[in-house]
Amino acid sequence: MPFCQTKCLYCAFYQQASRQQAEDAYVEALLKEIAHDAKLEQIRTATIDSVFFGGGTPTSLSPANAGRLLAAVREQFHLAPDAEVTMEGRVHDLVPEKIEAWLVGGVNRISLGVQSFDTALRRRVGRIDAREEVLRRLALLRREDVTIIADLIYGLPGQDLASWLADIRTLAEADVDGMDLYQLNIFPGSDLEKALRTGRVLACADLAGQADLYLAARDQLLAEGTERLSFFHWRRRRLSVWLRRRRQFRRPKLYAAEGTFCLSADGIPRRKAHHDDGASAGRARAAPLRQPGQRPGEGLRRFPPPDDARFAARGARICAMRPFTCRMSGRRSKDGC
Ligand SMILES: C[S@@+](CC[C@H](N)C(=O)[O-])C[C@H]1O[C@@H](n2cnc3c(N)ncnc32)[C@H](O)[C@@H]1O
Ligand code: SF4
Repeated sequence: MPFCQTKCLYCAFYQQASRQQAEDAYVEALLKEIAHDAKLEQIRTATIDSVFFGGGTPTSLSPANAGRLLAAVREQFHLAPDAEVTMEGRVHDLVPEKIEAWLVGGVNRISLGVQSFDTALRRRVGRIDAREEVLRRLALLRREDVTIIADLIYGLPGQDLASWLADIRTLAEADVDGMDLYQLNIFPGSDLEKALRTGRVLACADLAGQADLYLAARDQLLAEGTERLSFFHWRRRRLSVWLRRRRQFRRPKLYAAEGTFCLSADGIPRRKAHHDDGASAGRARAAPLRQPGQRPGEGLRRFPPPDDARFAARGARICAMRPFTCRMSGRRSKDGC
């Protein structure tokens, strides 16, 4: 869902400013695409275990549009009775009328970009709400029967160890069920890279500094009893949905993508075109459906077993990706972008 209310400094995902007209046109196109794909043999005969509305910012959708998309997925795909339905988005969108639309529509997992709880740092990278507001909105969501995941980034401009570890502690205070901790990527040509080059923002940790931040968070989380699922993913509670998702990603049978792709990690610039003009999702048939037994997205992230020694010793990039061409830099790379 390639719409965001504001653009964050570090972000290079494919997204554009939220506008109701563009959103409506995009949702119309996506509904057509869902209706088309639901009739395909592979999908018609499949039981879907997991649905992920990813971003940009799916939570930016109006309650009416979110409701229409969720209804289409429910009605046109055969979802397993215990299917996991995730909505990704921003804490800023946690308002009662939106939450209501997601839960009525069958969402049972919400994955939120927090990035940091530190107000000054948040503002520095273009996030909207202050710490208190983030915690207030998370508490609002906590009252509902839904799994909550929070994303944090380490290595952000001016972020030091104390502020990072305070963020890790706050995750427990916010009582989230799981967390994704991302190492900051500074994309060539991105707003962040330009701001760093011209000295408009405070410096970011280098790779060795990022490794230190990662290791400090790891020690703190393990000491709290949080379980590490991969380099990025951690869980505080033993939830069946987590286990199911993990199993699914190890042995996927079918992976179908609808709508734009946030990154073209396998080098196919698919699905960008169809939403530049707002309403031609049905035209973009470039993304091949995965064949039975095929791994999801050749070149998409795979999670290697955590290898702290390698990371700490080399300050290595922690997302191990197969060779791919980065859509943003156009470079062929083995190391992720
Ligand atoms: C597609 S974004 C969607 C989340 C939502 N739009 C938000 O920002 O609140 C998913 C996650 O990617 C991570 N991310 C985005 N840009 C990143 C970067 N340059 N380096 C590392 N992680 C990044 C952030 O943690 C973000 O929450
Ligand atoms: S981090 Fe999320 S909200 Fe910020 S610009 Fe990227 S997708 Fe949009």
